[in-house]
Amino acid sequence: MSRLSGLSDRIVDHAESLVADWSDGDVVDIEDQMTQVTIDVICDLMMGGELSAAQRRTVQDQLEPIGRRFEPDPVRSAVPDWVPLPGDEEYRSAVEELDGLIGEIVARRRTELAAGTDGESMDFLSILLRAQERGEQSEQQLRDEMMTMLLAGHDTTALTLTFTWHLLSEHPEAERRVHAELDELLDGDRSWMEVVRGMEYTEWVINEAMRLYPPVYVMFRTPTRPFEANGYTVPEGATLMLPQYAVHRSERFWDDPDEFDPERWRPERAAERPRFAYFPFGGGPRHCIGRQLALLEARLIVATVGSEFRLMSAEDGPLELLPTLTAHPVDGLEMQVERRED
Ligand code: HEM
Repeated sequence: MSRLSGLSDRIVDHAESLVADWSDGDVVDIEDQMTQVTIDVICDLMMGGELSAAQRRTVQDQLEPIGRRFEPDPVRSAVPDWVPLPGDEEYRSAVEELDGLIGEIVARRRTELAAGTDGESMDFLSILLRAQERGEQSEQQLRDEMMTMLLAGHDTTALTLTFTWHLLSEHPEAERRVHAELDELLDGDRSWMEVVRGMEYTEWVINEAMRLYPPVYVMFRTPTRPFEANGYTVPEGATLMLPQYAVHRSERFWDDPDEFDPERWRPERAAERPRFAYFPFGGGPRHCIGRQLALLEARLIVATVGSEFRLMSAEDGPLELLPTLTAHPVDGLEMQVERRED
């Protein structure tokens, strides 16, 4: 429990430094802001260090060319991998750029650990570096793990938060309830873990944001042997598409599926639904390993930002999504910041 509460304090510190730069009336790109804070959190918790503003910008700038490579593309899916296609060069150079940055982070951490200034650090990178010293991890494996953590560990959480703010700005009653919940929980001397445990309505809102806008909107599986499902035989080696976006909005499982309704997460209502009507974190042995961290982080960031600010949409028209590796707003999402009255 003390490790979790230590993590919470660090997440809150990062969220507080983000909002320290906001002033009443500012218009911010909320996707960009949420990406900044989630990069800071993942680097701190997983790699035991902070990025400079320039390094963080490097990560953010590479996301677009990497994401674009995963846009649904009938040509790409029909030709073998070795056929050169538009976007390949940008993708390769983005991966190289990130790999260089990861190399710098790993070298810095290795020096810190060798100098013995950091004791038995438990961030993921230190654990892997110690495994490497025992000959259990090659340099390439270690860098690959870091790349996965960096990419899988921030964009999805940033998008969950972006969509949460967007939905709250469109639903004032839900926003009022979130603020009321926070004000009550933060009035007193509770630890962050106690606050998080009390954030029941906010949790429903975050669940509902991931239902309507699942950051990972589709996953794929390849069966290693044939199987029967609903009277169909699925052959070995087939490509199975598991589309969160479609299932989360299907009338088979949800009343008024396109409506934002956090109340559907009341435990008694949620219990009526099949297990896989909702799977923003995937499922089975390869499900997301960061689920608990992401849910903790999302609540803490909503609490830190929401206790001080309201966010109001600064854009007209419906939210348009671009499906790349994740589904995100087509061109960021501008919101106006309003300091809440005491
Ligand atoms: C709201 C935030 C997040 C969402 C929606 C999300 C979603 C997912 C999904 C759908 C998968 C694929 C699961 C499958 O194939 O069944 C996945 C895998 C993964 N996620 Fe997350 N994730 C989130 C946050 C995180 C965080 C914070 C971390 C890091 C601490 C993380 C690390 C990973 C890793 C390493 C994998 C690969 C697991 C494997 O292949 O065995 N994720 N995530």
